[in-house]
Amino acid sequence: MSAVKLAPSILAADFARLGQQVTEVEHAGADRIHVDVMDGRFVPNLSMGPAIVQSIRRVTQLPLEIHLMISDPDFFLEDFAAAGSDSFLVHWEGNHNLHRTVQRIRALGKRAGVAINPATGSGVLEEIIRDLDQVLVMTVNPGFGHQQFVRTTLPKIGQVCELIERLKPGCAVEVDGGIDVTTAPLVVRAGATVLVAGSAIFGDRDGVATAMKRLRMAVNHIEDETEPAEQSALQRSQRCSSE
Ligand code: DX5
Ligand code: ZN
Repeated sequence: MSAVKLAPSILAADFARLGQQVTEVEHAGADRIHVDVMDGRFVPNLSMGPAIVQSIRRVTQLPLEIHLMISDPDFFLEDFAAAGSDSFLVHWEGNHNLHRTVQRIRALGKRAGVAINPATGSGVLEEIIRDLDQVLVMTVNPGFGHQQFVRTTLPKIGQVCELIERLKPGCAVEVDGGIDVTTAPLVVRAGATVLVAGSAIFGDRDGVATAMKRLRMAVNHIEDETEPAEQSALQRSQRCSSE
């Protein structure tokens, strides 16, 4: 079985039947549910808040990871934690007190991750990575689903993996944005082992189960075909980004 984990982003789900869509991806083998929270300030879009998390908490056993694209993440941490969140992804960009935010997440007993935008280098993680359970490399600019994958982020995935291997082995490397059957193999080759996918899963007219199977096959295909030398690089990257 593939070591790559899938995190369907419910931003692309049909909100009129959200509970059912979450159940569908759970039955199809999703590893976690990715919840995109936007405040109309940090990004030019609005999405959902703790009430939605509380509702989906009742219908799934899967871990709920909350991607906070908001100007003041600290203000909402407790509400989201009380609603049943398991982990938080907060942005490096715009947070002048990132260390404090991460410590607050940990004090709540939740997994902590830091997200970096396409124009942000991996070096900014150097002083915070030891406190993290995961890193989120944004492969689009945050704010909207169904955007085109930004290819220049690929080398950065490898750089994040190297940083993790050096400073925080075991920290996961997740990617978010524009992930589909074409880009999934590229990011896995680069070292990612957790793939967020919204429109590629919920937008597939053949249904979420088929969509997730296609994504997994796209990735298994690389793992099967990888040459021995590349295999060990892949295994190394997966070691450094396993949960
Ligand atoms: C973008 C969000 C993503 C988004 C991904 O700001 O963080 O999680 O839902 O959507 P797709 O997979 O459609 O690019
Ligand atoms: Zn996201």
